[in-house]
Amino acid sequence: MMFGCEVMSDALIDEDIRKARTLPSAWYTDMEHFKQLQSVFSGWQFAAHQSEFETNNVLPLEHIEAINGESMVLVKDEQTACYSNVCTHRGMRVALEACTAKKLQCRYHGRTFNLDGTLRHMPEFKEAIDFPSASDNLAEFPLKQWMGMHFTALNAAAKIPWEGLEQRLGFLGLEAFVLDAARNRDHMIDANWMLYVDNYLEGFHIPYVHPELNQALDYGAYTTETFDGGVLQIGKAMEGDVKFDLPEGHPDAGQDIAAYYLWLFPNMMFNFYPWGLSLNIVVPVSPTQTRVLYRGYVANAELASQGAGALLDTVEDQDQWVIELVQRGMASSAYDRGRYSPTREQGVHHFHRMLSALFDE
Ligand code: FES
Ligand SMILES: [Fe+2]
Repeated sequence: MMFGCEVMSDALIDEDIRKARTLPSAWYTDMEHFKQLQSVFSGWQFAAHQSEFETNNVLPLEHIEAINGESMVLVKDEQTACYSNVCTHRGMRVALEACTAKKLQCRYHGRTFNLDGTLRHMPEFKEAIDFPSASDNLAEFPLKQWMGMHFTALNAAAKIPWEGLEQRLGFLGLEAFVLDAARNRDHMIDANWMLYVDNYLEGFHIPYVHPELNQALDYGAYTTETFDGGVLQIGKAMEGDVKFDLPEGHPDAGQDIAAYYLWLFPNMMFNFYPWGLSLNIVVPVSPTQTRVLYRGYVANAELASQGAGALLDTVEDQDQWVIELVQRGMASSAYDRGRYSPTREQGVHHFHRMLSALFDE
C-alpha cells in the first residue's frame, strides 16, 4: 500500500531518533492517508471491563463499530464471547442496548439466538430448505481476557506482550476495579487522531502545557519505555504525594510512582493511578476530527482527589487546546516535518515507526 513517493522510501522514519524526522503533515490532513490508516484498527481493541457485567450480560460494543466498522456484541453466559451484532436473516442489529437476557432476539422479524451465538428459533421458516445452517448462527470474533479486561479483534495476529505487561501491572488487581460511569466522558476534538496519540506519547510538554500536573510529577524522573505493540510511560510522584504501594520484588520497587501511562497500539491509553484506571479510547472520525472516550474504573475512590490522577479534566482541556492548534499547523504550507527530541520523544518516534513500517516496502 503506497501513499506517494515520499512514503515509498525504505524508512520514512529513520530508526535513529537522533536523525529521524517526524511524519509528513499530509498524514494528518488528507482523506487518502486517513482511509489507508484505517487498517491499523483491525487489531486488538478494548471491549469492556468485567465489572460491566455486574448489571448486564449483553453489551453491544458501539465504540468498536465506530473504530473499525464492525458491529459486535459481548455476551456473558457460562463463558464470555464476542459475536457479530448483525442478524443473519437480513442484517438488522441484534442487541440494541446493554441488557440482561437469556437469549438474543432480533427486533425486525423475531429471529432468536442462544447466548452461544447459535440460531434458536426463526418464525415462518418451516418450509425453508437446508435451514438452519452454520451461516445462520452469529459469527464469532476473537476475544482476549487480560487482567479483568476484554479485548476483541478483527485480526487477532496483532502482537501485544500481554504476559510481560501483566508482570509489571498485575499488582494493581485490575480484576477488582469497578466502572464508575460518573467518570465517563465523550470528547469531540478538531484534530487528527494521530495528533492525540503523539501528544499522549510524550511528557515533554508537561511543564509547558500542564502547570498543575507539573507540580504533581517529577519531570526529571519521567521515563518512557517502548515495546512491540505499545509504550509505557512512568510518572514519578513529588515527595509526599500519593504513589503506588509496590509489592516487594516488583521491577519498580523502591520508586515513587504516581502514574503508569500504558498506550497500546494504535488508540488505547490506560492511565493507572493509585485511585484506579482512567481509560482513553481514541476514535478517528475524519482527517481533522477525533472522538475520545473516557472510561473510569475505580479501585480506591478515597485517593481520587490526590496527586497526578486528580487533574484529569484540567489536563484533558489543556491537551485538547494544544492538539487543535497543532492540527491547524499541519495545514500550513510552511510546515511539513519536524525532528524528535532524542531524550523526550522516544514514544512518538516509536509510534511513527510502527505506522510507517506498515506501509514501507
Ligand atoms: S433481520 Fe433479524 S429477523 Fe429479520
Ligand atoms: Fe498532555
